[in-house]
Amino acid sequence: MFLQAVILVGGEGTRLRPLTYETPKPMVPLFGVPFLERTLVRLRDAGVSDVILASGYLPSAIANHFGDGARLGMTLTYVVEDHPLGTAGALRNVAEHIRGTFFVLNGDVLTSLDLRRMIAFHEASGGVGVLHSIRVEDPSAFGCIVRDAQNRITSFVEKPPRDEAPTDEVNAGTYLLERRVLDSIPAGRAVSIERETFPQLLGAGERLYSYVTEDYWLDVGRPQQYLQAHNDVLDGKLLLAISGDVLPERGTYWYAGSSGVPPNVKPPAYLGRDVAIDATAIVGPYAVLGDRCRVGAGATISDSIVWDDVEIGDGAQISDAILASKVRVGSGAVVTSGAVVGHDARIPADMILEPDARIVAEVNATPEQVSNV
Ligand code: GTP
Repeated sequence: MFLQAVILVGGEGTRLRPLTYETPKPMVPLFGVPFLERTLVRLRDAGVSDVILASGYLPSAIANHFGDGARLGMTLTYVVEDHPLGTAGALRNVAEHIRGTFFVLNGDVLTSLDLRRMIAFHEASGGVGVLHSIRVEDPSAFGCIVRDAQNRITSFVEKPPRDEAPTDEVNAGTYLLERRVLDSIPAGRAVSIERETFPQLLGAGERLYSYVTEDYWLDVGRPQQYLQAHNDVLDGKLLLAISGDVLPERGTYWYAGSSGVPPNVKPPAYLGRDVAIDATAIVGPYAVLGDRCRVGAGATISDSIVWDDVEIGDGAQISDAILASKVRVGSGAVVTSGAVVGHDARIPADMILEPDARIVAEVNATPEQVSNV
């Protein structure tokens, strides 16, 4: 069966700001590789190489990286929305490119879902679509999917109070749909697939099925989840292809560099290429450093994600933080407790950031300018 996929990559990613001011959420790196690339490779490996990217926010950052998809052995088509059309409006907007059954994937979901099995499930069920569901402890932040014993969906309940949730099975953001679903989506306006299209299909008597799995699943749309995703991979909870050498004798530890393994790296950790770490600095556990980062004498980095070309000054302390590319952290500065620092920002020497600080480059850090964005 010829299958295509639409990946929804048009969101502004407001919850990941300031990282997403310059980098759209699908291009946010996961161990040095844009998140979207990992999703594309999963599709290709499942035999789906014709992919439409429904974009709108910073689309050229995506197109410049992937081009026509040839590097990945795929065919990529970009459709850019003038204004956000929502999760179903975005599908309607790419209808002319869809020839038959197609996957829909959220651009920010990290999962071990086996797409081939989902295809087989859809073929066996014979409905108009299949929605991937997972079980969560607290469904109140999700869309619940209620199904019967044959897995046919009977209702959707959006974000129910925890004690009123009809099920712990929630929408995991991967769908496999027949093309005629597109006919039910009005053109030219924002439409939500979760709130409008799926309930309408049920109302019209169409058969939608829930494909419940026990897979790893995480929506990486918030800073804590983005950190969590890295920790889960470092802990081996999700197997991900990561470039570099694994040094098992040093614990879970990837090293992509070429200038020798620094002495004070506490696993689990990941170091990109050409990092320069002072012999007295301590990196890890749960530290992820991008390419060409420099870490000064006595600095410490743990429970943090640091993108490419970041400079950490002598004695600086980084923990529970995310630093985007080209950030400079001055000597003795303390960047901890959920801080997120945007591209090119400078943290002055000895500055102690407040918990959950959000720092953007234009502002840079002075005490009165450290604020939420
Ligand atoms: P937040 O602003 O932090 O909520 O992030 P977001 O804008 O990405 O929204 P959300 O996480 O709810 O979106 C889920 C997925 O749908 C993401 O992959 C988004 O890129 C995508 N998405 C959301 N809205 C649109 C839209 O209007 N058009 C398109 N093409 N994609 C969208």
